[in-house]
Amino acid sequence: MEKPSKIAPATGKLGVLLPGMGAVSTTFMAGVELVRKGKSQPVGSLTQMGTIRLGKRTDGRSPLIKKFVPLAELKDLTFAGWDIFKDNAYQSAANAGVLNPQDLEKVKPFLSTIKPMKAAFDRDFVKLIDGPNIKKGKNKYELALQIKEDIANFRKTSRASRLVTCWCGSTESFVKPEDVHSTPEKFIEGMKSNHPAIAPSMLYAWASVTSEVPFANGAPNLTVDIPAIQKLAHDHNVAICGKDFKTGQTLMKTILAPGFKARMLGLDGWFSTNILGNRDGEVLEDPGSFKTKEESKLSVLEYILQPQLYPQLYGKMHHKVRINYYPPRGDNKEGWDNIDIFGWLGYPMQIKVDFLCRDSILAAPIVLDLVLFMDLAQRAGMRGIQEWLSFYFKSPMTAPGLYPEHDLFIQSMKLKNTLRWMKGEDLITHLGQEYYD
Ligand SMILES: NC(=O)c1ccc[n+]([C@@H]2O[C@H](COP(=O)([O-])OP(=O)(O)OC[C@H]3O[C@@H](n4cnc5c(N)ncnc54)[C@H](O)[C@@H]3O)[C@@H](O)[C@H]2O)c1
Repeated sequence: MEKPSKIAPATGKLGVLLPGMGAVSTTFMAGVELVRKGKSQPVGSLTQMGTIRLGKRTDGRSPLIKKFVPLAELKDLTFAGWDIFKDNAYQSAANAGVLNPQDLEKVKPFLSTIKPMKAAFDRDFVKLIDGPNIKKGKNKYELALQIKEDIANFRKTSRASRLVTCWCGSTESFVKPEDVHSTPEKFIEGMKSNHPAIAPSMLYAWASVTSEVPFANGAPNLTVDIPAIQKLAHDHNVAICGKDFKTGQTLMKTILAPGFKARMLGLDGWFSTNILGNRDGEVLEDPGSFKTKEESKLSVLEYILQPQLYPQLYGKMHHKVRINYYPPRGDNKEGWDNIDIFGWLGYPMQIKVDFLCRDSILAAPIVLDLVLFMDLAQRAGMRGIQEWLSFYFKSPMTAPGLYPEHDLFIQSMKLKNTLRWMKGEDLITHLGQEYYD
């Protein structure tokens, strides 16, 4: 890809479209409003709090990222979403129980105005929930056209100059890429004939991309990870990225595993178990949805540890992931990891990690960063898969045939170097010989 010759300024409003107005979406919107009102800090957001070093260590140039690249400002964000339930964003946030009532009260008038548009939904893909706020149409193509109309209406009524979509809907049942996903033409035919391998999330993706709206996928669903949508993204000059927000346990895994590998410590096994009680946990009780999530969570260690290069260290590793729905915990997931490592001469050691995390608190700043960076990519003319945003995903999308980078620190360098590259600054290699001349 060529370096952007110029980046269009972030003038006007940025409309954020959220398919799925559950725990993550509402925590994100409520958080943006709390920060805008000066009542809270955007902790966890690289775009809001992060700096970027430019030039030599002795140059003393480390601007805030948001001052270095032209990002949309929080005051310019405006929101819309779809959901199968009719609850407005305030009711949905209260139901999700992530934020405490005092915080929610401060943004109640704002959240109450955000009412979900009717969803394109199919119980074959999300078996354990059902709701009344659902579009009707004679086939999937008609539903996708209705989503396009929603997008056009929002563009008009919000007077946004640009839009970005971020899928925050439920995890759908596992789907493998098939012939129907291979070209835009076959995909349209498939929508018209109600092909069973076309999931609702793909209808939102098709509608967004063909409306020139960038699309980020926060769930492990296939969605934009199919040639048909990727070709459309290319043809329509639209940025896409995914998939599955990297929060909680996988975040910890991609922080710890690179450290073991860097020090050539061996790994016999990694057993991960989770209990969570939110609607996401309920959906993941279904084996089809769990399989989609499991695939996304399992690949991480293989790619980081590279057992094919280090058979003595990682050739026999056992990796297991369990997720159990346990309502009393709500959104406050507990992720236990038992890690069996070995050191010098093969002597075994154990590490136990018990992460009492808050899923949506970790996911909300990711949504914000993705929305702002996808808008930046779009204004810079960067179309197709945005691999530099793999920092945010459990299963980063890559060009065909390219293995994904899962190591959080490589991902972070890739992201920051991409920003430097976009602005014509020197890339940072960390070589540093020049300081000793
Ligand atoms: N919270 C995290 O840390 C985290 C991490 C990685 C991925 N995710 C993924 O993000 C997504 C959202 O998570 P959440 O905790 O907000 O879940 P949630 O269940 O609270 O919200 C999802 C919402 O999507 C709605 N929905 C389902 N199908 C829809 C459709 N076809 N159209 C419109 N709305 C639809 C549901 O009614 C629900 O309100 C899930 O797929 C989850 O797996 C979350």
